[in-house]
Amino acid sequence: MSFDEVVRLGQQRGFFFKAAESYPNTPAGFLDYGPLGVGLKNRFVELWRRLVVKRDGMLEIDGSQILPRAVFEASGHLAGFTDPFVKCGKCGSVFRPDKLVEEKTGKGVPEKLGGADYDQLMEKSGVRCLKCGSKLSGTTRFNMMFRVGIGPAQEEAYLRPETCQSIFVDFPLLFKTQRVKLPIGIAQVGKSFRNEIAPRQALIRLRELNQAEVEVFFNPKKADDPRYDRDLGTVLSFRLPDGSDRSVPLSEALKDGVVPHKLAAHHLALIAGLYEAAGIKRENIRFRVLSEEDRAFYSRAAYDLEVRLSWGWVELVACNYRGDYDLGGHAGVSGGNFSVDDDGEKVLPHVFELSLGIDRSIFALIESSMTGEGDRRVMALRPFLSPTQVCVFPLVNKDGLQEKAKELYGELRESFDAFYDDSGAIGRRYARADEAGVPACVTLDYDTLKDGTVTLRDRDTRGQQRVPAAELPSKLAALVRYPPMRNEARAG
Ligand code: GLY
Repeated sequence: MSFDEVVRLGQQRGFFFKAAESYPNTPAGFLDYGPLGVGLKNRFVELWRRLVVKRDGMLEIDGSQILPRAVFEASGHLAGFTDPFVKCGKCGSVFRPDKLVEEKTGKGVPEKLGGADYDQLMEKSGVRCLKCGSKLSGTTRFNMMFRVGIGPAQEEAYLRPETCQSIFVDFPLLFKTQRVKLPIGIAQVGKSFRNEIAPRQALIRLRELNQAEVEVFFNPKKADDPRYDRDLGTVLSFRLPDGSDRSVPLSEALKDGVVPHKLAAHHLALIAGLYEAAGIKRENIRFRVLSEEDRAFYSRAAYDLEVRLSWGWVELVACNYRGDYDLGGHAGVSGGNFSVDDDGEKVLPHVFELSLGIDRSIFALIESSMTGEGDRRVMALRPFLSPTQVCVFPLVNKDGLQEKAKELYGELRESFDAFYDDSGAIGRRYARADEAGVPACVTLDYDTLKDGTVTLRDRDTRGQQRVPAAELPSKLAALVRYPPMRNEARAG
């Protein structure tokens, strides 16, 4: 499916659509999720919670979306969270010069160059204003945080640009009150806000985005703890900064310095396992190793988990070794104590981060699960991710079949996300359910009235079996059960 087809399907089926669509000048980069999108998002987050957060005994918090200026002074965002931008002198359109050059030349352009460097690159590659065709120059930088004013005094504060800052600020309190030891992961799901200069692809680059982040705090002297040895046989694919590709067991990636330590290796394997469990094929998952000039300002080593979609590789998770950048920064600005005790040693922990983009992941799951021949489109989502788990249909709308079907629907929706549909031919109803990713359909017919059996149809095989209606709850529960926390797909 092309990018545009996914966007169209998302809108048609109510997965997601542009926010405030009826107002023509609504800026880009804001999306609403419809009922199916909310269902898929919630289920994906639950999968992450099970296979990453709970599996590794992490803590989860829910922090404030607005934080005071001092937090972002300490985090470096006030000084460093900027993107280059250029404004057309003639028509006033605004662009990212690095993206314009990348699109023109097909080659990557670093995000951290000076304004004059971008001007030169645009000149050299013949980039012109996409709207009026004028020459572009005068690149400057723009801070992407949304500023807000608190109370009548308009005290300076910002919408958080990443969920993790409250994890860092809260770390000493959580470490103490939860009585945990290093290493400990702290997770958070929530909204972040980035005043992107020119967000173009819906769901891929949003100004208001959903993140699921994990920050793992550890003693740097123990980053090669033998507890992580069980991951060393896992084979992962890496795209190196020189453009070459390597698929190697993590033991080799460590030996060659592609990955800095076993703790990082474990978390890369963990996050790749999440996407495999969600239905992305292993050959379509890779880690792009970022060069120093492409890394965020807080990062010592960075790996973008990318998934191959029909239009190319798309970054879904930023994995960053942040060292003691964050805790050191907050200790310095706040004057608080961010060091903790680790078996008698006073340690300022280092951090390894898994920063997952939920919206991008939803987009990737929809695109990669669409299959179809001719007119038949099937969203073959893993059943535990399907927003609607079962559809209930009366074969015909007479002789008491509707009433019986509504009764069964009422029972099933106590335990499952069920949908009742009695409109149109049965084939059309199956087709609509397939396109919305519903893994099972139940049809009631005249035999149901005689013997209490129904037809249970499987989305992926289209196979039908006759089962007693009383057996549906156990059969459906088995079908939509989440995979176990110890995810076998991860073994190398
Ligand atoms: N916390 C890293 C990010 O939001 O990309």
